[in-house]
Amino acid sequence: MCSVIGYVGKRLSCPLVLEGLKRLEYRGYDSAGFACVNSSDRSLSVQKAVGSVKQLEAQIADAGIDGYVAVGHTRWATHGQATKENAHPHLDCTKRIAVVHNGIIENFQDLKDVLVLQGHLFVSDTDSEVLAHLFEQYVTGASDTHEAFIRMVGQLKGAYAFVIISLEYPDILFVARRGSPLCIGVGKEEMFVASDPLAFAQQVEYVAFVPERTCGVVSKDSFVLYDREGMAVQTPIEQLEAEWIAVEKGEHEHFMLKEMYEQKQAIARTVHFYQSMKKGQVEETLGVTQDFLRDVEKIYLIGCGTSWHAGRIAEFFFESVTGVPAAAVLASEFRHRTFFPHPKALYIAISQSGETADVLETIRMINSHGLSTVALTNVASSSLVRECQGFWLTQAGPEIAVASTKAFSTQLTSLYWLAHYVAQIKGRIDQKQLIQAERELLTAGELLEATLEEYKHEVIAQDAPIYSAFNRYIFLGRHISYPFALEAALKLKEISYIFAQAYPAGELKHGPLALVEKVVPVVVFSHSDPVIYHKLLANVQEVKARDGHVIAFALEGQYELIAAADRAFVVPQSAPLLAPLVMAGLMQFFCYAIANACGRSIDKPRNLAKSVTVE
Ligand code: F6R
Repeated sequence: MCSVIGYVGKRLSCPLVLEGLKRLEYRGYDSAGFACVNSSDRSLSVQKAVGSVKQLEAQIADAGIDGYVAVGHTRWATHGQATKENAHPHLDCTKRIAVVHNGIIENFQDLKDVLVLQGHLFVSDTDSEVLAHLFEQYVTGASDTHEAFIRMVGQLKGAYAFVIISLEYPDILFVARRGSPLCIGVGKEEMFVASDPLAFAQQVEYVAFVPERTCGVVSKDSFVLYDREGMAVQTPIEQLEAEWIAVEKGEHEHFMLKEMYEQKQAIARTVHFYQSMKKGQVEETLGVTQDFLRDVEKIYLIGCGTSWHAGRIAEFFFESVTGVPAAAVLASEFRHRTFFPHPKALYIAISQSGETADVLETIRMINSHGLSTVALTNVASSSLVRECQGFWLTQAGPEIAVASTKAFSTQLTSLYWLAHYVAQIKGRIDQKQLIQAERELLTAGELLEATLEEYKHEVIAQDAPIYSAFNRYIFLGRHISYPFALEAALKLKEISYIFAQAYPAGELKHGPLALVEKVVPVVVFSHSDPVIYHKLLANVQEVKARDGHVIAFALEGQYELIAAADRAFVVPQSAPLLAPLVMAGLMQFFCYAIANACGRSIDKPRNLAKSVTVE
């Protein structure tokens, strides 16, 4: 995923811009670049590197450049390969203008054709370069710079967030956004501009989110934004939220550990966020009408990995609470299957990052049929939000560790709430029951934390040394605890590199039972429904009868299961459908402790990236 950053102010820009790029680094990129108005000779200095920000940093140090006005970028190749030529910043013909851009200028070819006829020379394959030449053509030398810039931006089609610096206007950042996120970090005698407040959260206290379809100029003391008609647009300057600033590990050994501990707050924040919505705001945000929700006939939950698991658990939420059939589908598979457009279906794309390529491609395919798509994501500024008709945000705060934890639990929170909201619109439940569901979620968050706290020392001291020695695991669940078992198996695999496979417990005797032996622990996630519980118990007996080793996540009062297991974690009872949420913290911690005992690179497991922006 690309990131843009700009700086204008009293401090030397290079360390600030590079630090900002590093803070956004975990999202993945393949080249990086920096340009500044060089303070020594007022020239425009540019450095680009294919590879890491560290490489860029070394190049800049060798070049000895810095200044008080600068832009930086990390690029994930879309138009054109990952080369130095295609890396941002892009320059105009005179090399006095530099631009960093996120998004896609859809009409770049038309604009480029005209600019080429006007004598402009292009050196990259990117759509972004057109911005530098347009600026050169239309803004440089204009009698009214602001008006010329507004007119230039008016020519653009597509999605963009960009920052331009120019030797002509050496104390100004020109900015514009449409579809892609952009925000201004407001400091004392300095301003940042970035695609994500994370980039400058440690440097300034205030942020202004650049409104959609606006452009403007930012200087060290002020900024002004305009709409398409050239009217000034006011935007509030807000205190930066603590969670954006605190993206350090703090006293925690790993981000994953910190993020597991943050789940209670993240769940509560998500619930409170929905509670605070005004009448009509839910539908407006989702991009559908109340009538559509009342008549909705099918819910599709689209995702990959952990987000797909959240969707699979949420199938049960929607079906039992709303009475509407729900299907969780894997984005990477769904898009290649025969598609049967359903005009009364709601297509919810679940993605923590909002940048997962398979999810985006699936949504594009569904959008092409004019259907109702919703982005359920943790990143308001993501491509998924831009491309879906509506969006629905979780409030997990930034998740840095590759292995998803608080994003997963807030996805469950979000989908549980949404299922109840839809049920209310359909008249299946009343307002009081929606409020009750909110209470259940808050309680589940508290129980998640309490369970984690209760067992964490034992898990580290007793369990991790034992269980890190096994090299194969089976995970079992039934009904809602089966997709949770899938998530647990994924968590263990990705961070410990131990092979793990999840099965619906009822399938055991149809094959997987052949794998059961002492050296293959079987982890069972229980269920509060008595019928399902007793069937799970029978499966546990089958395992025990084959000399298997059982680790049970049992619910309070499930004495037979607790007694039968070799190791039992006893989890408090909650709203029945929320048992996976309550168990999530401990399950993640169990996998984490094993991986840590194996000495793995927990936050950045081998071969994996946080944002999977390639198919
Ligand atoms: C596993 C994990 C991945 C992601 C998957 C989708 O812990 O995080 O399986 O869930 O890559 O990512 P998003 O949710 O960003 O679409």
